[in-house]
Amino acid sequence: MQQPATSIVILTGAGISAESGLPTFRDKDGLWEGHRVEDVACPEAFARDPERVQRFYNLRRAALATVEPNAAHHALARLQQAWPGRVTLVTQNVDDLHERAGSTGVIHMHGELRKVRCGHCGQRMEWLDELHTSTLCPVCGRGRGLRPDIVWFGEMPLQLEVIEDAVEASGLFVAIGTSGQVYPAAGLVQVARSAGAATLEINTAQTAVSGCFDSHRVGPASVEVRRWVAGLLDR
Ligand code: OAD
Repeated sequence: MQQPATSIVILTGAGISAESGLPTFRDKDGLWEGHRVEDVACPEAFARDPERVQRFYNLRRAALATVEPNAAHHALARLQQAWPGRVTLVTQNVDDLHERAGSTGVIHMHGELRKVRCGHCGQRMEWLDELHTSTLCPVCGRGRGLRPDIVWFGEMPLQLEVIEDAVEASGLFVAIGTSGQVYPAAGLVQVARSAGAATLEINTAQTAVSGCFDSHRVGPASVEVRRWVAGLLDR
């Protein structure tokens, strides 16, 4: 009897979007070199100076309109369409480049730049424009409640249980373009190992968790992801 195809879970980070022109966080000239997390990416910063936080995300939302998915995003979409087993795509990225490349069911564990949510009525909604402290919620009509739908430091990542279940049920876990410095995402490789899954890291450099992976592909995602996917599908 034919074996069912391996379930694959893929975790992506800022490195997969770097070649599209979006800066990563911790590389040279990364976002955290020009901005302090304490000023723009935590609930305390939003409470202290909401306009500054909104400005940071307004700029990033505007930058999204100027970039396109690259060969790595397209290769993962192709894998999702052609692989006979389940392919779960989990991303720490708040951009929408996976979706624009054709991927479906993408789990954005750190939220999405093109969504906002209202702190008064709890409604999440798509948002492509600038957001300001004075912007009224189109659903409940109240002011000072809308915030980017981003998971800030100190907040819980989204859909963690669903992600961990998928990793535990997978036969292969692949991390692409992530530095392995932010938990719980960085700990998913250990969840995979404990469940007996094979593990692969694709990155231009060594990461904080490289030692936890069985195998590595070192190089730009646009090249290495495309090669890896081609190898899987053409074998
Ligand atoms: P980082 O900036 O920490 O790491 C980017 C990783 O991508 C590094 O390991 C680079 O070596 C690698 N890289 C760079 N260019 C690449 C390329 N062309 N191909 C392959 N790899 C490449 O970004 P993340 O790991 O995604 O969270 O950061 C995790 C989280 O920290 C983010 O989601 C964000 C940040 O603070 C929040 O904002 C909540």
